[in-house]
Amino acid sequence: MNNSKEFSPGEIYEPSEETRRHAWVNNERIYEMAQDYLTLWDEVAKNDIEWFEPYESVLDDSNAPFYRWYVGGKINITHNCIDRHIDSKGDKTAIIWQGEPENEKERITYHELYRRVCRFANALRTLGVQEEDVVTIYMGMVPELLIAMLACARIGAIHNVVFGGFSSTALRERINDANAKVVVTMDGYYRRGKVIETKRIVDKALEACSVESVVVIERVGNGASMVDGRDIWWHELEEGLPDECECKALDSEHALFILYTSGTTGKPKGVLHVHGGYNVGTHITTKWVFDLKDRDVFWCTADIGWITGHSYVVYGPLSVGATILIYEGAPDYPQPDRWWNIIEQYGVTVFYTAPTAIRYFMKLSEEWLKKHDLSSLRLLGTVGETIDPEAWKWYYRYVGSERCPVIDTWWQTETGMVIIAPLPGITKLKPGSVTLPFPGILVDICDEKGNPADSGELVITNPWPAMFRNLWGEPERFAKQYWRSNGSGKLIYFTGDGARKDGDGYYWIIGRIDEVLKVSGHRLGSAEIESALISHEAVSEAAVVGKPHEIKGETPVAFVVLKTGYKPSVELKKDLKTHVKNEIGAIAVPEEIYFVEQLPKTRSGKIVRRILLAIEKGEKIGDITTLEDITVVEKIKNVKGAK
Ligand code: PRX
Repeated sequence: MNNSKEFSPGEIYEPSEETRRHAWVNNERIYEMAQDYLTLWDEVAKNDIEWFEPYESVLDDSNAPFYRWYVGGKINITHNCIDRHIDSKGDKTAIIWQGEPENEKERITYHELYRRVCRFANALRTLGVQEEDVVTIYMGMVPELLIAMLACARIGAIHNVVFGGFSSTALRERINDANAKVVVTMDGYYRRGKVIETKRIVDKALEACSVESVVVIERVGNGASMVDGRDIWWHELEEGLPDECECKALDSEHALFILYTSGTTGKPKGVLHVHGGYNVGTHITTKWVFDLKDRDVFWCTADIGWITGHSYVVYGPLSVGATILIYEGAPDYPQPDRWWNIIEQYGVTVFYTAPTAIRYFMKLSEEWLKKHDLSSLRLLGTVGETIDPEAWKWYYRYVGSERCPVIDTWWQTETGMVIIAPLPGITKLKPGSVTLPFPGILVDICDEKGNPADSGELVITNPWPAMFRNLWGEPERFAKQYWRSNGSGKLIYFTGDGARKDGDGYYWIIGRIDEVLKVSGHRLGSAEIESALISHEAVSEAAVVGKPHEIKGETPVAFVVLKTGYKPSVELKKDLKTHVKNEIGAIAVPEEIYFVEQLPKTRSGKIVRRILLAIEKGEKIGDITTLEDITVVEKIKNVKGAK
């Protein structure tokens, strides 16, 4: 999706005097000062983060791209997220939780969070969880999800949160790949007034996994079945356990979590983050980009099952000692003003969401917003895909009452932290642009040959603290897929995003240039959906492309070749959609499936998805001379036309 255009100077938004005066960063020279990027990352780590033992050097790049940050330091991210706040703000609310049913809510202070994390850490220990063991967490948005993550981190275990919208098959694949010892889950949670039967999905996933224990939080009381000797209720496991648990001093590079994300093959990638650098990077970006202060109530609407939830619901905001809000349910349930209702009710001051949500509410009309007093808001953020200037301005006008800066943040699961974004006190905003790289981060744009250009692929030219350290079990894929050396032999990180830079050095993101889709801001690989389709008995070949969609940004469309003996039918189409839902989850279900005789392929057999996308969009097809059989284009057009 690219709706970004060049803008007239009239569309530059200057920071207000009020924002500038109070911002953490209000000196433009920060960018200049950050040129010496290792000094900046040293100072941030020393001033803002507590270490059990100091590090010896900021960066070790001797084995690039396997960079190591804060070498030799001892740290635990949970100390910085919880323990260090106890004395100064133990009674401050750390978490405001709002269930989907309006009467279900909870406030948890930092002190209580400390006790609950410690108790659950002890509980994990009784199950034999040790340092570096993997714990898969599959839950809805409840405080225990954060507590489970923090408890793992506290004892040096590695958490692997799987988004609650993934199917049992997708969950199983991730549990097996991560070799998880324990699964933490719940009986169910509420979504649009219905109960999602989480435990049932887990049971199905575990039919072909060998985890030792399953811990189940009782949320809805739907009588979930428990397997003897494997499953245990959270509250029973915790009974009698102390609410003190030593915070393990870990090496800076100790693994914190694995989070699976989609790439260009059918197999999801287990992105690995570590305690030290991730703590530094998420902390300082939370503080400077969202400009969080002690009195703020920060609401990042992302599900914790995605990186945004890890970095900006949990770790970044808790590390700065903020009050965070989490909401269990759907944005528009029971009415389309639910989110605005929550903002008013809790006095949310900083709000961070995705363009897909903004487009959705824009379509519903601003009347829903006007019913609520949103004057507590002072800063708005967005992430996940390009925000078109219309949506940006709507967000600015109707959610922020032309008072709140709109902070568009570009980053990825792999980067762990925000990489390009305005600093609210100093950066002039241009609707649709992600503006400038964060101080201490060096980005550029390269043409196809790897030479610097104004338009091409976005690259990060120097390592950064919260960068991923590896792909779980796939170091070669990590080293090969993302890193390439430039002309002078220096390794640079290729993001997979197309971008351009304007005359002011502002970045504009065009969208993925590989076969990765963004469906409602969620990242899905074409190949992943294709593998799901091919695993159906009727399918011989499949190709999936992302078709532009007014609200979702993109939606998957599939072109399917059937095996001999199978005939196209409405029932089969339905069956294939259900199959994808079962294999991956509802988010991956193609909006349309076309049955074709053949797919457009090069002579070496590579599917040319670009042609399918052009056909789907009704655009000019371009060069087809590389195709093995050029008649296929007309045949596919006919199938589409016949629809
Ligand atoms: O294409 C970019 C898009 O989201 C991709 C990363 O997806 P994921 O790892 O799921 O992380 C999403 C949340 C950090 C990027 O490669 N993207 C993310 N933020 C923006 C964006 N595209 C345009 N503008 C953004 N602000």
